[in-house]
Amino acid sequence: MPDISKLAAGYLSAGDPTGWFEPLYAQAEAGGAEVPWDVPEASAHLRAFPLPPGAGRRALVVGCGPGRDAEHIAARGYATTAFDIAPTAIELARTRHPDSPVDYVVADLLDPPAGWRQGFDLVLESNNVQALPQSIRAAAITSAGTFVAPGGTLLVLAAAAVTGGGEGPPWPLTRDEIDGFAAGGLRQVSVEQTEAPGTRLHSRWRAVFTR
Ligand SMILES: C[S@@+](CC[C@H](N)C(=O)[O-])C[C@H]1O[C@@H](n2cnc3c(N)ncnc32)[C@H](O)[C@@H]1O
Repeated sequence: MPDISKLAAGYLSAGDPTGWFEPLYAQAEAGGAEVPWDVPEASAHLRAFPLPPGAGRRALVVGCGPGRDAEHIAARGYATTAFDIAPTAIELARTRHPDSPVDYVVADLLDPPAGWRQGFDLVLESNNVQALPQSIRAAAITSAGTFVAPGGTLLVLAAAAVTGGGEGPPWPLTRDEIDGFAAGGLRQVSVEQTEAPGTRLHSRWRAVFTR
């Protein structure tokens, strides 16, 4: 099995900080790797969040992987679009959820379709920025907020930085990075730091923003 830290480091040092996701998914499909976040259930932190009713509302799931969180949001009535930079992840999402109403799309958070600007009532950013290195984190944080429509909600779920965090990815987010989502017209509604005992990344952020 490839060591994710080494795989990511190789792409990072070659100047391609997001290049390792597609080969990881492809290797996993071939039976030669494991994608640690590829689990059947939606994120427990998302499930614990009281989502507003989704009927008549649009949602966007950033870095959706094989679709676990997008399916959860769509099941609550949101007209859901979900995107990932890795084509294999999107293919997996479509294959695993053949009857899904979710529109699964290959797209790059750092160069998203212009039509998505302020286009969604709910935007979920869960566990993605923490997988990105410093060189592109600020741009990723700013980009996630651009999708939020006036009156809409951005929900950020992430590991929280604690001292002695160790080798990444993931690289948990600092409070300053969480505050950084309040840019380009977004304002912070709430920021909570919670503990998830028994898990490796036990300290977590749950932050909510609106426009
Ligand atoms: C750590 S995984 C988390 C996946 C999912 N959010 C979850 O919690 O199960 C990060 C995901 O973000 C995707 N990703 C990384 N950089 C991206 C980018 N620039 N644009 C879109 N997706 C990206 C990766 O392919 C991967 O599926």
